[in-house]
Amino acid sequence: MSSEALPFGETYVPSLEAYLNYYRRSIEDIEGFWDARARELVWLRYWDQVLDRSNPPFYRWFVGGVTNININALDRWVGTDVFNKVAYYWEGEPGDRRTISYRELYREVNRLAWALREIVGVKPGDRVSIYLPMIPELPISMLAVTRIGAIHSVVFSGFSAEALADRIVDAKADVLITADGFYRRGRVVELKRAADEAVALARQQGVEVKKVIVVKRAGNEIPWNEQRDAWYHELVNEAPLRAYVKPEPRKAEDVLFILYTSGTTGKPKGVMHSVGGYMTYVYHVFKWNWDPRPHDVYWCAADIGWITGHTYIVYGSLMNGVSQVMYEGAPDYPAPHRIWEIIDRYDVSIFYTSPTLLRLLRKYGDEWVEKHDLSTLRILGTVGEPINPEVWKWYYTKIGKERAPIVDTWWQTETGAAMISPAPGIALVPLKPGSATYPLPGIVADVFDAEGKPARPGEKGYLVIKEPWPGMLMSIWGDPDRYVRTYWSRFSRPDEGVWIYYAADYAIKDSDGYFWLLGRADEVLNVAGHRIGTIELEDALLTHPAVSEAAVVGAPDPVKGQVPVGVVVLKEGYEPSPQLEEELKQTVRKVVGPIAVPARILFVRKLPKTRSGKIMRRILIALLQDKPVGDTSTLEDPSAVEEVRRAIEEFKKLMKS
Ligand code: WTA
Repeated sequence: MSSEALPFGETYVPSLEAYLNYYRRSIEDIEGFWDARARELVWLRYWDQVLDRSNPPFYRWFVGGVTNININALDRWVGTDVFNKVAYYWEGEPGDRRTISYRELYREVNRLAWALREIVGVKPGDRVSIYLPMIPELPISMLAVTRIGAIHSVVFSGFSAEALADRIVDAKADVLITADGFYRRGRVVELKRAADEAVALARQQGVEVKKVIVVKRAGNEIPWNEQRDAWYHELVNEAPLRAYVKPEPRKAEDVLFILYTSGTTGKPKGVMHSVGGYMTYVYHVFKWNWDPRPHDVYWCAADIGWITGHTYIVYGSLMNGVSQVMYEGAPDYPAPHRIWEIIDRYDVSIFYTSPTLLRLLRKYGDEWVEKHDLSTLRILGTVGEPINPEVWKWYYTKIGKERAPIVDTWWQTETGAAMISPAPGIALVPLKPGSATYPLPGIVADVFDAEGKPARPGEKGYLVIKEPWPGMLMSIWGDPDRYVRTYWSRFSRPDEGVWIYYAADYAIKDSDGYFWLLGRADEVLNVAGHRIGTIELEDALLTHPAVSEAAVVGAPDPVKGQVPVGVVVLKEGYEPSPQLEEELKQTVRKVVGPIAVPARILFVRKLPKTRSGKIMRRILIALLQDKPVGDTSTLEDPSAVEEVRRAIEEFKKLMKS
C-alpha cells in the first residue's frame, strides 16, 4: 500500500499550556470533574453521591449509581455505525484469521451469557475463572460474565496449574472457562491438561469447580470428564440464535472483576475493581491516550491475562468503539517481523506495547522493519516498564518516522488505567524521551522522600497519589487489611485525615514537573513487563526437597529489563550440579509458570543475613551487578559476602567456557 493512500499522518502540535489548563481545572474540583465525565456514559440510574470519603481508604465512587459495563461496551452501539464495524481483527499464530464485528460480538456475548445463566446457573456475584489464550472467546467470556452480573477472574494462560489453583481457591470460583490448547512458537500448549490439574488441586483445598467450559482452539486430544466438562460451542449452540440477555443492573460499588497480581508476600493478591468507577475511568483514559477516530485500527499487543489487556483490549477499547487487532502468538514467530507484518496488513494506526518487546525487535535489526509499510501509524504507546531513552528514540524515528507521539503510560493493576502519561486526546505536551510526562486529568501525583515530604525537583523518591480516582482498586479480595497495609500505610496520617496511596515505585519529578518512573521500590521484579514477586519464587524454590534457604533477586537484562536469579543454600547431603539447577528451574516453572523461571541459580553455603535473620537482598543485587556492596556492618556473618561473590565468579567462568 502506498503511504499516500490514507490520510493517517495527523500531527500534533505540542502545547504544555493547553494541557496544564485542562489539568488544573480537573483538579480544582475533582468530584465535579468526574461527575461530568461519568455522565458521558450510559447509566441505568445516576448516583446520589460522586465520592463517599466517609471510610478511607475504602472510597466508594458513584454511590447509588446503577449500570452494567456491557451497556457501554456493546449495547450502546446497537443501531449506530459502530455496530457494523470490525471489533476484532484476530490472527492466530499459525496464520488463521477471524474478523468479528461489534454486531457479532454482541450476539456471541448474549448467547454465552444466556448459556451461563440458564444452563450453567451462574448468578450475579458468582466468580468465574477464565484461563484462556488470546482468542476472541476470551473477551466474549469476560463480557458474558459481567453481563449477567458475575465477577470474572482471568488467569494468564502462561501461568501453571498450581498458580491457577491458588487463584481458583482464593476467589472460590466454581466455574472455569478454558481451551483445549493454543499455539505458542509453533507448538500446542496443553491448556486443558493444566486446567484439569488445577481443578484437582483446588478440590484438595476445598473448592469444587462444578463446570469446566472448554473452547476448541487447537483440536488437540484432551482428557474429558463427562459430568463436569462442556464444550463451549455446544453450550452456546443451545442458546437461541438471537438470544438477548438484559444486562444485569449492578451497583456502581459492586465488584466488576478480580485480577490477581504479585505482591511482597507469597500469596498473590486479588485486586478488586468496581463497576462504576473502573468503567468511567478506563473509558476516558483510553480516549485521552489514543485520541481514537472512526478510521483507526488500534493494536495493544499485550495479553488479556494482565490488566493492560483487560483495560486496553477489552473494556476501554470497546467502550470507545474502536476496531482492533488481536494476536494469539509469540511476537517474533515464525520470523522477527511478525509484528511489523501485522501492522502493515491491517493498517494499524495506534500501536501499544512494552519496552521489552521493543528492545527485542530492535535487536533483530532494522532490516525487518524496513520490509514493511508502517506509514499508517499515528500514535505509539508503551507500558509496563521504564523505557530507555535510546529505545524511545528508535521507536520514535524508525517506527513512527518522527510523526507519531510516544505515549509512555505509567500505571498498575491497582490503578485501572494509565495515571501518568501524555494525553494527545486532550493536548499533547512536549515529550521527553524516557519520561511518562504529566499526571492525567483528575490525578494528583507527587514524589515523596523517605520521610513523606515532597522530594526536591530531580531527587529520587517514592511515587504517591494524593487523591482518590475512579479507576482505583476497591480492596483486596478477602483481605481488606492487606489493602490498607500495602497501599495506604506507608505515608498516610490517619489522625490528621490524610490518606496517601503508595505505589511502591521509585520516581523523580524534574524541574519542569515531568515524572520519570524508575522501577519498583519493593521486592517485586519486573520481568519483561510482568510483575513477579520475589517471595513467590523463593516459596516455589523451597518446595524442592534439596533447598534449605533461597533468595531471589533481579539481575539487569538488556532485553527483559530484569531477570530473576535464585541464590540457594542446599540441605545436608545435596551437592550443587547443573542437573539440580535445571530441576530447580523446572520447580519454579511448575509452581508459578514459564515467565518466572530464574535465568540462573547460584549455589552458596550461606546467605548474607542480618543478625535478626533477614536476607540482605541489597548485597546480592550489588554483587550481581558488580557494584560495591556498601555497608555490611549489620551482617551476621560477613564471610557470606565472599561466598556469594565466589558463586557468581564461578558462574561467569562457566558461562564463558
Ligand atoms: C511498572 C502494568 C515505568 C511499575 C500496567 C508499576 C512502569 C508496575 C510503567 C505495574 C511505565 C508500569 N514506566 N514503569 N510506563 N508502567 N510500570 O501491575 O513498576 O503489571 O508499579 O501493571 O509496572 O505493573 P502491573
